[in-house]
Amino acid sequence: MQGKIVIITGASDGIGKAAARELKSQGAEVVIIGRSPEKTIALAQELDAMYYIADFSDLNKVRELAEKLLATYPRIDVLANNAGGIFGKRELTTDGFEKTMQVNHLSHFLLTSLLLNTLIASKATIINTSSIANGLFAKLDIHDINMERRYSSNMAYGNAKLENILFTKELQRRYGAQGISVAAFHPGNVATSFASDSNSILRFMYQTPLKRMIGLTSPEVGAETLVWLASTTPNIDWQPGQYYYKKKIEKTNAMADDENVAKSLWRQSEAMTKS
Ligand SMILES: NC(=O)c1ccc[n+]([C@@H]2O[C@H](COP(=O)([O-])OP(=O)(O)OC[C@H]3O[C@@H](n4cnc5c(N)ncnc54)[C@H](OP(=O)(O)O)[C@@H]3O)[C@@H](O)[C@H]2O)c1
Repeated sequence: MQGKIVIITGASDGIGKAAARELKSQGAEVVIIGRSPEKTIALAQELDAMYYIADFSDLNKVRELAEKLLATYPRIDVLANNAGGIFGKRELTTDGFEKTMQVNHLSHFLLTSLLLNTLIASKATIINTSSIANGLFAKLDIHDINMERRYSSNMAYGNAKLENILFTKELQRRYGAQGISVAAFHPGNVATSFASDSNSILRFMYQTPLKRMIGLTSPEVGAETLVWLASTTPNIDWQPGQYYYKKKIEKTNAMADDENVAKSLWRQSEAMTKS
């Protein structure tokens, strides 16, 4: 990873933070993106790394972030779209979109789109942090991605994590031939700050003593597949357009392979992020 430019969103905590530490130790120039200034600056100082603050529930902040990144990095070797989480009751962002969908999917769709020319010129690897929730909780109605008709926090999270995989596959289909390599992965069930802002049952699993009973793994173990995808060679060590768990291709929700759904999600995401 010596000298490779690796941009990680959601790097101020949990899995992204563990991945940033490991990739830095392997010689990468890691760029830390976080929402909390305190946490983000603390890690940037620890790693002597560049950092940027952006709240992904505001798309203008994502646009400003992309502008700064493009002005600073003529080459990007790895973009890890990792920020995300599960939230509470249905909430709209300042942009008027369902928050779970925007923070986990739409903001990363926009960031990747704005960086795309540089990513292609760099033959970059793009890694999307998805979740086993794509299979467990998703009931995606592609005609209602803002979940106006039907909402629960678990379903919103599952849908968003399925959207991460649909985006992974569609991005690979559209631009893979131009040299980018895209993958999604499930990190495992990892003891992080995950679900701390949620009313989901998952909050009790992750943020109470129950977490010791269900045997969550460490952030370092959770980051292993991200680090592996970032530091190995696509088409040799792993197959672009796929969803991984523990460094192996993993089964997804059946809808993940529906190209019409992926195209529809892409078109809607484009329309929603047009400034
Ligand atoms: N933990 C698990 O078991 C598990 C399982 C499957 C998938 N995942 C996925 O793994 C990824 C990382 O989660 P984690 O477990 O490491 O949780 P975490 O410790 O809560 O970290 C989440 C990261 O996302 C950032 N973030 C959250 N909301 C944001 C927003 N509105 N704008 C910008 N950044 C925001 C946080 O920033 P701040 O801390 O600066 O606010 C933090 O850096 C997420 O995509 C999550 O869905 C986790």
